[in-house]
This record gives sequence, structure tokens and C-alpha cells, in this order.
Amino acid sequence: MSLSISQVLTLSPSDEIVTVNGWVRTKRSSKNVAFVAMNDGSTIRNLQLVVDIDKGYEGITEEVMAQVTTGASVIASGKLVASQGSGQAVELLCESITVPGIADPDEYPLQPKKHSLEFLREIGHLRFRTNVFGAIFRVRHAMTFAIHKFFNDRGFFNIHSPIITGSDAEGAGEMFRVTTLPEKNPPLLDDGTVDFSKDFFGKATNLTVSGQLEAELAAMALGKVYTFGPTFRAENSNTSRHLSEFWMIEPEVAFADLTDNMNLAEEFLKYLIAYALENCVDDLDFLSKRNAEENKLKPQAEREDMTLVEKLEFVSNNSFERVTYTEAVEILKNCTPNKKKKFQYPVENWGIDLQSEHERYLVEKHFKKPVIVTDYPKEIKSFYMRVNPDGKTVAAMDILVPGAGEIIGGSQREERLEILQKRAEEFKIPPESIWWYLDIRKYGSVVHSGFGLGFERLLMFVTGMNNVRDVIPFPRAPKSAEF
Ligand code: 4AD
Ligand code: MG
Repeated sequence: MSLSISQVLTLSPSDEIVTVNGWVRTKRSSKNVAFVAMNDGSTIRNLQLVVDIDKGYEGITEEVMAQVTTGASVIASGKLVASQGSGQAVELLCESITVPGIADPDEYPLQPKKHSLEFLREIGHLRFRTNVFGAIFRVRHAMTFAIHKFFNDRGFFNIHSPIITGSDAEGAGEMFRVTTLPEKNPPLLDDGTVDFSKDFFGKATNLTVSGQLEAELAAMALGKVYTFGPTFRAENSNTSRHLSEFWMIEPEVAFADLTDNMNLAEEFLKYLIAYALENCVDDLDFLSKRNAEENKLKPQAEREDMTLVEKLEFVSNNSFERVTYTEAVEILKNCTPNKKKKFQYPVENWGIDLQSEHERYLVEKHFKKPVIVTDYPKEIKSFYMRVNPDGKTVAAMDILVPGAGEIIGGSQREERLEILQKRAEEFKIPPESIWWYLDIRKYGSVVHSGFGLGFERLLMFVTGMNNVRDVIPFPRAPKSAEF
């Protein structure tokens, strides 16, 4: 009977023969007995194999045991016995061991010692095999599952929005072009620019920056929907929070206003965190300890006073702070770092875009909890956000959390056709590129709202990792698409 290590570790000693498949993490030998720590990815925990060559089991030879080195794959069978060492209840007394794939110790890059995250990024094809990345990707899976469960339990429908689009949802123009036109001598218009009417789709197309516009169409019939897909941004920002390809969850709800939207977002985040605390105990425990060690190395002023697990518990049990942009700017204007000119971007006037240093101050120093900032100036937000009665602000909301910064961006949508047309014009969005989006406002238009959760930002928050490139299996960032 072949079992996963997560299953084996729940069993009691018995005479039954079990078989386990996995990879060697470490091997330590004393006389003729070898102790092999084996991991199969099902859990962060290893199974200890005890191999006694003197027992004379067929196939357990010195030659085979010489191949049992860090990184090699092994198939081991034997009986589970009570463990002599601490840390695990049972260990496997091997009666047979085979090595389907060796890992030459002189070449294998992942030796059993602590490697830097930077180094591990360079060996992205192997980093899954470390404790830290195993933990992160198991948590990533758990969060994916919890997201679908959250929405399914609440009557939302999952919509697959397109990856190739002809529109720019965010109106920021930072898109990757999708084309099959020849690189050399593409067809040109009279003005010398490329003639995209000759392109594959008969128009210029790009990788989507957001599934929101399409989700809005679906919400106008299905009521409550959400997307969960890859999105692409060609902004040249080489930061620890930006990826060129990231995953976004975008719920969209008909007959919901900004307050409903904030309530949904807060409930959603708390649900996901509580789910992780309940279902990823071993992995979060490991990540929390790792985080505490890193924290000790930081200068006193930057140290966090809570462990990762304490921080997650705190967030899932306390309500988020809600402030308007105007209130946030007042706080920032009068705060000590601003007065002492410590901000790279000084806060002087209403209307500025909040930089990550400002967001961090609000969340980490001032409120010390997640913050929802609402009602931003309309100039610094997207064209589709509903214009407030003051004519200056829009019904937007951003959720900021410690470490990851802006984790959610959302809004109530502009449901009034004439105002939306005017806003699109102000943002220089050609109406013919979004005629279908405008059309929705002509037929049964209603108040509706939604938001986008950056999946990797969520994972940074939940795992305590500081770099967004460490929470996605294969990061895409400027000058980086190796694996
Ligand atoms: O604030 P954003 O740009 O909002 C939208 O795209 C809306 N269409 C969402 C909606 O209302 N349906 O992006 C949403 C979230 C951000 O808050 C952030 O968490 C994440 O997506 N995000 C990124 N994550 C990683 N790398 C990037 N380059 C990101 N840009 C945005
Ligand atoms: Mg945003």
C-alpha cells in the first residue's frame, strides 16, 4: 500500500508493510544504520527512514545506500515503528529501498543548508524542493480552494473572462500586445503606424489587465459573479510588490453599493485568513518561525511586534479601519515623518496619489491594522468608478495591509450612461473599443460594485514573504521570464 507522508504520520506502529515515495532531504549514518529524512511534498514534515544494512534485506546494499543522497528520489517499504528520536511519532524501518533517480552530490545545487531567497530564485526549477517554497505553494493552493469555496457558498458564479482583449480596462495603457503580424515589414497605414486591421483578430489586441469589464456584463444577468485569472501589466516597475503577470480575483455584484462592497471585501479577507490558520497549521507555523528569525535580524525600529500567526489572528478578529482619502491625507500631512521631511514624496496637497510609503505609514504606524481608504480624487482613479455627488471624488475603495500594501482595489461602478461616456472621453478611451460596456448602461442599468484582490499580494500577507516573486511559482517581471 503506497501512502503519502501526510497519511503515514497519522498512523500508529503496525506490522503492515507500507510503501512511501519521495525525495531525500538529508541522510546521516552511524555504523551500518542510516537515518534518511524523506519528503514527498504532501506536508512540510519528513518521514524518517531507518535503514540497517546488517539486517540483510535483499536489495539494501552499500551500493544502493551510496545513491541515497540529498535530492535523490526513493521508494521505500517497511513497517512503521515508534520513533526513537523526537519530532515524529513513527518512523519507517526499511525492508526495501530503491533509487529511481540519483542526484549527484557534487552537482546538486540544493545542499541541506540555508540558501538565500535570491539564490533560490535563480534555481526556480528546484526551489519547490525547499521547506519554504513547499509551504508557500501548499498555502497558495489552500487559498485558491478557499476563494472558490467562499464565493460558491455565497451564491456567486465563476466567470472565465478572456485573456486576449481589445480594450484597456484600467485605461493605463500598460499592456502587452498580442499579434501575429510579421516582425519585419508589417503592413502600415498612411501615417506609418502598423495597420492592425490586417492582424489576426482584425484589430489591435492585448493581454488583459483585468477581467472586470467582462465580469460587469455577467453580473448584469447572473447577479453575483467573480473571475479568478491571470492578468498582465507591462509597467516597468521592478519592485518587490509588482509582477508583470499576476493572478487576480474580481467579484462583481449587481444592486450593491460601495458599503456593500467594503463589507464583502472585509468578510472575504477575514475568511481567507481564518481558512489558512485552520487548514495550513504546519506550514504557517514554519513560516511564522522563519519570519520571527528574519525579524530578529532587522534594526529595532523596523521590527514587527507580532509573529506572523499572531498578526493573522489579529486581522481575522478585528474590524478594518475605514477612512476617506481626504481624512487619510490630513493624517499624512500632519504626521511626524512628513513634517521631518522623511517621505520621499512629501504630502502637501489634496489630490496627490498615495505612494507606498504613505500607505505603509497609515497601516503600520498610524492605525496598526488593515485600512480601507475610500473616495479618492477622480483624476487619480479609473474611468469606470462612480462619480460622487461632490463631483470631485469617486466611490473607490482600496484596502491596505501591513507588509503587502494595497491588496485590494475596487469601487462602485458608474452606472449612468452619460456620465460614463464623459469619463471615458476624459480618459481618452475610444468609445468604439468599449461600446459593449457602455451599452450595458442602456438596458436595465443598476447600481453595482466590485473589487480586485491581487492573489500574490494576499499570499505575501498570509505567508509573511517580503517579495512577490517568492509567492508565485514562476515570476514574470521586467527582464525576467526564465522558467
Ligand atoms: O487596483 P487594480 O489595478 O484594480 C483593478 O484592476 C480593478 N479592475 C479591480 C476591480 O475593481 N475589479 O488591481 C487590483 C489589485 C491591486 O490592489 C493589487 O493587489 C493587485 O491587483 N495588483 C498587482 N499585483 C501584483 N503585481 C502588479 N503589477 C499588480 N497590480 C495590481
Ligand atoms: Mg489599485
